[in-house]
Amino acid sequence: MSVLPSLDQKAGYVNRMFAEIAPRYDLMNRLMTGGQDVRWREELVKLCELPPHGRLLDVGTGTGDIAYEALRQHPSITALGCDFTFEMMSFGKAKPTGRLVRFVQGDALQLPFPDDYFDAVTSGFVLRNVVDIDAALREQRRVTRPGGKVICLETAPPTQALLGPLVRFHMFRVIPFLGNLLSPQGSAYQYLPQSTTVFPEPDVLAQKMERAGLKNVRFVTRMFGTVAIHVGTV
Ligand SMILES: C[S@@+](CC[C@H](N)C(=O)[O-])C[C@H]1O[C@@H](n2cnc3c(N)ncnc32)[C@H](O)[C@@H]1O
Repeated sequence: MSVLPSLDQKAGYVNRMFAEIAPRYDLMNRLMTGGQDVRWREELVKLCELPPHGRLLDVGTGTGDIAYEALRQHPSITALGCDFTFEMMSFGKAKPTGRLVRFVQGDALQLPFPDDYFDAVTSGFVLRNVVDIDAALREQRRVTRPGGKVICLETAPPTQALLGPLVRFHMFRVIPFLGNLLSPQGSAYQYLPQSTTVFPEPDVLAQKMERAGLKNVRFVTRMFGTVAIHVGTV
């Protein structure tokens, strides 16, 4: 059964869903990916090529894991995390990391920042949740300085390849099962795999990034092609 909301209800649905699952979000990520999500964020931050004292914006930051990882790798930078779900950022703020992420509430489609401001703009598992992927990418390009990087970590739709049935079993049986154990109140962990199947393939997302004005766009895939990290230069 499809739990995907219609386009006009999507932003409200996504916002409420993440507010509900915020207390268990980090734990669920570790369980769903076998801890690999930590490595993907590490890899993503390396692609930012941040200068000393640089500025990083993490869009759809949730509990701030990308921004915290950026500060771990580059203690001198300023790291901002922006999200429209207050509850996710509250859990992020409370993390005892000893590092300061500045959390700002805002919409990925209308970022509350000036043009050309950041050295790198990242997003992790966000684009599949927004109403307009092209508009979100244009916003990320707008707030990044010339020469800066825009980097997106996202799931990729399962292919018909050899591992297809296994991957599908993981997505449509294991993830909802774990989700029900940890967050029995909602359909969130049915929505998450279903939203992956309608998300553009990695080469199509790369074209969207180019159309948003990014240059030298390239991507790598991870976890049997189910996750992709894209990078482009402004
Ligand atoms: C799957 S979580 C990802 C959190 C974090 N980036 C990570 O790597 O774990 C998606 C986040 O995107 C946020 N989000 C979705 N649509 C958004 C929008 N239009 N504007 C701002 N935040 C949005 C959600 O509130 C949620 O916190």
